Amino acid sequence: MKVLVTRTLPGKALDRLKEEGLEVLVHEGLFLPREELLRKVEGAFGLIPTVEDRIDAEVMDRAGPSLKVIACYSVGVDHVDLKAARKRGIRVTHTPDVLTEATADLTFALLLAVARRVVEGVDYARRGRWRAWHPELLLGLDLQGLTLGIVGMGRIGQAVAQRAEAFGLRIAYTSKEAKPLPYPFLPLEDLIREADILSLHTPLTPETHRLMNRRRLFSMKKGAILLNTARGALVDTEALVGALRGHLFGAGLDVTDPEPLPPGHPLYALPNAVITPHIGSAGVRTRARMAEVAVENLLAVLKGEEPPNPVA
Ligand code: DGY
Repeated sequence: MKVLVTRTLPGKALDRLKEEGLEVLVHEGLFLPREELLRKVEGAFGLIPTVEDRIDAEVMDRAGPSLKVIACYSVGVDHVDLKAARKRGIRVTHTPDVLTEATADLTFALLLAVARRVVEGVDYARRGRWRAWHPELLLGLDLQGLTLGIVGMGRIGQAVAQRAEAFGLRIAYTSKEAKPLPYPFLPLEDLIREADILSLHTPLTPETHRLMNRRRLFSMKKGAILLNTARGALVDTEALVGALRGHLFGAGLDVTDPEPLPPGHPLYALPNAVITPHIGSAGVRTRARMAEVAVENLLAVLKGEEPPNPVA
């Protein structure tokens, strides 16, 4: 039985698949072209895709009836057509928990970088422009006492809140599954208006697509910061470019729409946009754990057991 793994994965987790007698086909390139994905998936029992592989009905049908499990190497599953998988009796799993802290860390890295203009400062020094200390050089925002609005208070949102407390930020949130938390809950529109820093941690669904549209971006406080380490399509990119030209203080984006953001995109030209290439979970230990979790889920399905992290 074949398992297609669409990228090389860190760590030794894939060895466990071989020990179970599975044939493991790992695609070794930087990305997997669609045609190649369709070809390689034929006859597979399992598929371990990354967030960049669109796994729709066509992929499932090319795999054929042998396909029993799609064990995502991610917590987000917006790249998988869950309805099509359910219809075909294919289990879909993901990797929650293990990447929570790494993603919260990166969110904070972006927050600090934007608020204190770290990238501009690095650039300034590197370009040989640092010739004197000056009281008004590269002034940024003092974090203490500002309000951090968290959209989506799941695992990652809560881990960001934990870090924010240590920085003296006031925290407010909005969330679908709002369990009682020790922070004020605000309706989305109020949170957007009141936050000095707005951080997105909600999954991408048809309801949250372009959640931060032009109207909402411009209803943020003047001089506020937007952070997105969730999914690029939560934000209207063109409207964000406009909002960054005068309305917002800045944005920290680990995800973009489109993604990858092509060279020459107007966002790159804005000094107040700090952009990283979707590396929220990119810790050595985290990425190895994600592989282990994906493999555990896949093997559970192989053994006819309920996988530990099902989404469909
Ligand atoms: C996820 O897991 O959904 C991230 O976007 C990639 O690790």
